[in-house]
Amino acid sequence: MPDYDQAYQEFNWKDVEKNFSWYETGKVNMAYEAIDRHAESWRKNKVALYYSDQNRDEKYTFRDLKLRSNQFGNVLRTIGVEKGDRVFLFMPRSPELYISLLGILKNGSIVGPLFEAFMEQAVRDRLENSDATTLITTKDLLPRVPYKELAHLNQIILVGEDELPDNTEDIKFYNYETEMKKASRDLEIEWVDREDGMILHYTSGSTGKPKGILHAHNAMIQHYQTAKWVLDLQEEDIYWCTADPGWVTGTSYGIFGPWLNGASNLIRGGRFSPEDWYLTIEKYGVTVWLSAPTAFRRLMSVGDNVSEEYDLSSLRHILSVGEPLNAEVVHWGMKVYKLRIHDHWWMTETGGIIIANYRSMEMKPGSMGKPFPGIEAAILDDAGNELPQGQMGKLCVKAGWPSMLRAVWKNEERFNQYFPVDGWFESGDLASMDEDGYFWFGGRDDDVIQTSGERVGPFEVESKLVEHPAVAEAAVIGKPDPVRGEIIKAFVALRDGYTKTDELQEELRLYVKQGLAAHAAPREIEIRDFLPKTRSGKIMRRVLKAWDLGLPTGDLSTMEE
Ligand code: WTA
Repeated sequence: MPDYDQAYQEFNWKDVEKNFSWYETGKVNMAYEAIDRHAESWRKNKVALYYSDQNRDEKYTFRDLKLRSNQFGNVLRTIGVEKGDRVFLFMPRSPELYISLLGILKNGSIVGPLFEAFMEQAVRDRLENSDATTLITTKDLLPRVPYKELAHLNQIILVGEDELPDNTEDIKFYNYETEMKKASRDLEIEWVDREDGMILHYTSGSTGKPKGILHAHNAMIQHYQTAKWVLDLQEEDIYWCTADPGWVTGTSYGIFGPWLNGASNLIRGGRFSPEDWYLTIEKYGVTVWLSAPTAFRRLMSVGDNVSEEYDLSSLRHILSVGEPLNAEVVHWGMKVYKLRIHDHWWMTETGGIIIANYRSMEMKPGSMGKPFPGIEAAILDDAGNELPQGQMGKLCVKAGWPSMLRAVWKNEERFNQYFPVDGWFESGDLASMDEDGYFWFGGRDDDVIQTSGERVGPFEVESKLVEHPAVAEAAVIGKPDPVRGEIIKAFVALRDGYTKTDELQEELRLYVKQGLAAHAAPREIEIRDFLPKTRSGKIMRRVLKAWDLGLPTGDLSTMEE
């Protein structure tokens, strides 16, 4: 990015639109703009995807991805998947995941990526709410898909599996490899309107089931320009985003942003390990690296001698997102990587980066940075008035940025709640802005927990706990933790006839782990005689949290006797 202040003054989203095909044809398709456009240019033999995990080490050029995603688009078309249908992905990172995702978009369908860590209840909630018709998964994960009970789901494509389960009246199974072999490499892309639905990311709130945040193809305008200016992607870069596509960072900046810019994108499968991550940077000569505070904190905690064993000199730009990045970590990064870690802020609902630290800008460690050009962010009070500098309030964004959420799936009421003040999107985060226009994160306005970079809604965990026969009531909070940001702590009241034991606590933890997801399992469980509630019966998490942390409880007027 050129000088920030100048860019902020001169920038216009309309100029970015000229990069894409609708400027000429009125129609567009994200997968075409991200892949085919480059495959039809001098970039065609450039490596688009480096994929590596324990067992695989592969490269795909833009042309390879174009042809394979064409084939997958044809597979979907052959089995009757239509424009606008929800097609879900539930599998570990692999080239097939990325090829499938692109093929789904080329078919004009809406893609729903799910974390491979989800257990049955989490999978069920999302497939049920979205009325997904088609699922792409693996044999290992299939047992967590209650497909017999999902009325709309009528076909499943299994990746890497020769023997298919028997078809039933309601559900047909296909083999990915077999279908791909039969499919043509030529595809008539489904050209869509820029406002047509593209991707559905489920995200947690503090109440209710997870909600499906819908984004349109139009988001590409923002993905493209933010990747250009915040990720600072250049032609020669090897870019590595460590996020899984089950999370919005793993799609907006693990797929769309880099590929819209024609960048070489590295995908690393498998779990976090300091040695493996540093080896990955060394082996591939990663130049631009995007990760999360939890990862940096864990790398920090293993000691600087680990990083010294690897050649990390290829790195030229590092970024962090998802939780507050402590100033301490930024200082450590400058020591170990000789680079600043660039914090930036956004959320599933915003679809793309809203506030960021830019390479060309002076940075204040601990701050999230300044609004992206073309975007207006503000700190408002409950009535929608702008608060004075330095004062903590609601972090809001002027509605209308290109990648703004288009709907909460089948829940208009919830969608409208994001816009309590006319013309402003309310993020649910608290923040303040200083005299130089830098934004500082203050916390969540509600109770959503950020643990190790994952966003967990307390309600989901509580609901699972309450399903256990021993549990009468449960309340879940995020407890500050130096490494994980927050850990999940559950307060549980037992049903009559059950007594508090260590075994029971462990059993409850496992129950959530196996029923929902490993990252959603409480690390701490406290069994109490009763839980504080409002008169209307709502459990008061903030009171529990205050008790737990020894803080003032605030207003208790609504608490029942
Ligand atoms: C939090 C992730 C502090 C915030 C892209 C937000 C952050 C939620 C930052 C969205 C940051 C994200 N500093 N907190 N730089 N970035 N958050 O939807 O609470 O998974 O509302 O999207 O993460 O999480 P989500």
